[in-house]
Amino acid sequence: MAQYAMRANIVEHSLEVMNVALAIIDNLKSDVQTNRDLVIAATLLHDITKTRSLETRENHALSGGTLLRELGFTSTAEIVEQHVIMRDINLGGRLEEREIVYYADKRVRHTVIVTLEERVADLIDRYGTTEAIRTQILQNKQQALLVEQKIAGFLKGDMHQQKGQSLEFPSLAKRGKGRFNR
Ligand SMILES: [Fe+2]
Repeated sequence: MAQYAMRANIVEHSLEVMNVALAIIDNLKSDVQTNRDLVIAATLLHDITKTRSLETRENHALSGGTLLRELGFTSTAEIVEQHVIMRDINLGGRLEEREIVYYADKRVRHTVIVTLEERVADLIDRYGTTEAIRTQILQNKQQALLVEQKIAGFLKGDMHQQKGQSLEFPSLAKRGKGRFNR
């Protein structure tokens, strides 16, 4: 992170995305297999080229993936490339690490845990300069809702989301992070 001069707020964002991802992993039903180390690596590195992209306007998801692939981290690269928009979604398949990272990132605005609704409103606010971009953000929201449903199906009973609400993370709430039951 230091080598690529990540801004402190992006490092903090990445750490909180990791916390959300781990809260999900820690609450999975006991028979769900997932690569925890891969999720940790991908959450910490998902915005590795974001700082640079603020200047270059490059697509930081793709360039982050390219960078990690060059460094030999192929599995992490695959996930980072898809952290903004997933290439596809297999609703009936196993819970994939890329889905956990993609979803966790959608629940952290800067360093605050928010609902999907709030995150999408923020994205439209910051990036929704044209109708085409706004449409794309809303399409991505639909994908995020599907991923949320999929993840919910793999979580232990007490973690199931309340109707119409985002997933909740009691372990993070206890630390006073994030806002819940909204
Ligand atoms: Fe990102």
